[in-house]
Amino acid sequence: MLILLDTAKIDLIEKANEILPLDGVTTNPSLIVKEKTAFITLLQEIRRIIGTEKMLHVQVISKKAEEIVEEAMYLNKVIGGNLYIKVPVIPQGIKAMKIIKEKGLKITATAIFTPQQAVLAAKAGANFVAPYVNRLDNISANGINVVAEIAKIYNMFSIKTKILAASFKNIQQVHDACLAGAHGVTVPYDLANLLVHHPLTEESVEKFISDWEDFYGKGKLTKDMK
Ligand code: G3P
Repeated sequence: MLILLDTAKIDLIEKANEILPLDGVTTNPSLIVKEKTAFITLLQEIRRIIGTEKMLHVQVISKKAEEIVEEAMYLNKVIGGNLYIKVPVIPQGIKAMKIIKEKGLKITATAIFTPQQAVLAAKAGANFVAPYVNRLDNISANGINVVAEIAKIYNMFSIKTKILAASFKNIQQVHDACLAGAHGVTVPYDLANLLVHHPLTEESVEKFISDWEDFYGKGKLTKDMK
């Protein structure tokens, strides 16, 4: 199960990467422009923070296949590392995926809203497909069902493309996407932190410490014991 951070905010990526077992970072043009800074410099900084092994997913802008391919080659050259080129599943995007695949770059097909888009993207060479769970839920189209149906079809036909479910607004959606067969999820910073949070965990830890300190004394750790 892969867990990625869906943000372009440097400070949040730094904080989350230090604590959480992240597999990488996903960005999109809307997230990028919020940072109001130079695009490539920003991505190079994200790459520096997460290192070359972790995945970085970066989206192209063009709606023409040839230009999408040019963008992909450029991004691969200037960002490098374990890079996934995010290409929307428009017809020109599908055409571009076939070419990008031939050039040996990795692809995340994005803006997926139907299982059939996911099938086409897989056939065109996508390594990941990113179905947008919350955006589907917002139009009563059941994002989790779409994830489940993609997983079912991929399993039925032994399709190797992985599902990186995206667009989450709560932990229940993340949980349901995992159960529906997503290979990974990409979540905003706040949700990433909520994944580990539970009030009973915190309460239990406080009780363990107070029991311990009542007997052994405040601030004493196991390494101080004989
Ligand atoms: O990066 C794609 C996806 O995660 C977008 O999420 O919250 O804008 O629907 P959202």
